[in-house]
Amino acid sequence: MPSLHPESRLLIVWEALIVLVTLYNCFTIPFRIAFNATISKNWFLLDHLADLILIIDIFLRFHISYITEGELIKDKDKISINYRKTDFKPNLIASLPLDIFVYLFLPQASLILMGLCRIPRLLRFPQCFLIFRKWDNNVYFNSGVVRMFELFIIVFLIDHWVACLWFFIGNLTGQSGESWLQGDNLHLENTTTQYLYSLYWSITTLTTVGYGDITPQNNIELIFTFMVMFLGVSLYAFVIGNVVAVISSLDASKNRFRDKLGQIQSYMWERKIPPSLQKNILDYYQYMWEYNRDVSLDFYFLDELPHSIKTRVYCYLYQELLEKVPIFQDAEPCFIEDLVIKLKPRILPPHDYVIRENQMGHEMYFVKRGQLQAFSEKTGKVYSLLVAGSFFGEIALLYNSRRTASVKTLTYCELFVLYKEDFDKVLENYPQFSEKVKKIAEQRHQVRE
Ligand code: CMP
Repeated sequence: MPSLHPESRLLIVWEALIVLVTLYNCFTIPFRIAFNATISKNWFLLDHLADLILIIDIFLRFHISYITEGELIKDKDKISINYRKTDFKPNLIASLPLDIFVYLFLPQASLILMGLCRIPRLLRFPQCFLIFRKWDNNVYFNSGVVRMFELFIIVFLIDHWVACLWFFIGNLTGQSGESWLQGDNLHLENTTTQYLYSLYWSITTLTTVGYGDITPQNNIELIFTFMVMFLGVSLYAFVIGNVVAVISSLDASKNRFRDKLGQIQSYMWERKIPPSLQKNILDYYQYMWEYNRDVSLDFYFLDELPHSIKTRVYCYLYQELLEKVPIFQDAEPCFIEDLVIKLKPRILPPHDYVIRENQMGHEMYFVKRGQLQAFSEKTGKVYSLLVAGSFFGEIALLYNSRRTASVKTLTYCELFVLYKEDFDKVLENYPQFSEKVKKIAEQRHQVRE
């Protein structure tokens, strides 16, 4: 059997199954011991299916390569030595079928004893956290979701274990003294109700100091209650700290944006920027946030990517623009790939000049979103309304001339800029595009005359 890569999908699915089986054991074993619960045939089958999965896992681990000091170790002997040194023994002990022996050789043994025989299965529990760490470091998993899931498991299992212990202690001490189990106010007819009351007590005592409707009835229960209260204080400090960290990391881009905005606001305040200008600046950032989140990050990290991946990302990001601009519609894929990588995004507020008539031109623009106006500053004549999918600024580039008109934004606009040197390269390499642009430029010239 070939060795499995430690990051392979198959292994991720298998480890998820191991987590599920371990959590099943962590839930059912203490529950059965504490509540002396009888096991139906289905549960019995489920138990042994879970055991079988854990046994298969012991053997599978001999075929999983591992990474040490950045090197992938595939050698069977090395894998085996490494596994024997680490998890092999706890895994073997966790899978010992002690309960089957008790069942076969001591048929009249109590359910509690059968449950106690399954306790070694809980040795697998710490491995769940190693698996969670692995998922946390896997780029395909959302680390916030993994950590929230981990927290939920910790909190739920602690609540569950405390509930089981509380009932177990109540049951033990109730034999001799007065326990809450025998209180007149509770009618605990069946195991489910008993469990739900115990869980209720455990959650209220761990989160607060309890509501006082279920109270300790003797010294042992009192001591246990103190311990649970102490545990509750540290558990919830730990949980709240972690939840805050996870939530703030989930919204990392918003935090980054807030930090940036804070710096801008203090800069404007220190430099005594006039309030109307401050408003323009803040409106601009508001627009940036609503429509683009934090675009600056996109371009920072995209630059690090290899050319082929970067091109594919740009094609995806600029899909909206590529679909809107008619001259791109039946362009060859290589033309699009060549072009997208050269486009630079620009966001402009309303009533801003993008181009001034008679100035030299160094770039042309494609409109992704918003509306602009091409007009003559001398006569005031409006030549055209430029909307999503339009382009402008091509005439000065084509004829090496001055700008033939002014172009002003009417609303917030998202544009893509193509600089002259890139424009010239594109024209040279793709004559079809060049012809289309020239045709439109000539039509525009004629309209102006
Ligand atoms: P350019 O001359 O480089 O800069 C001003 C731009 O306005 C120009 O390129 C065209 O893209 C655009 N423009 C000029 N006249 C018109 C028109 N009649 N219709 C649409 N756009 C125009």
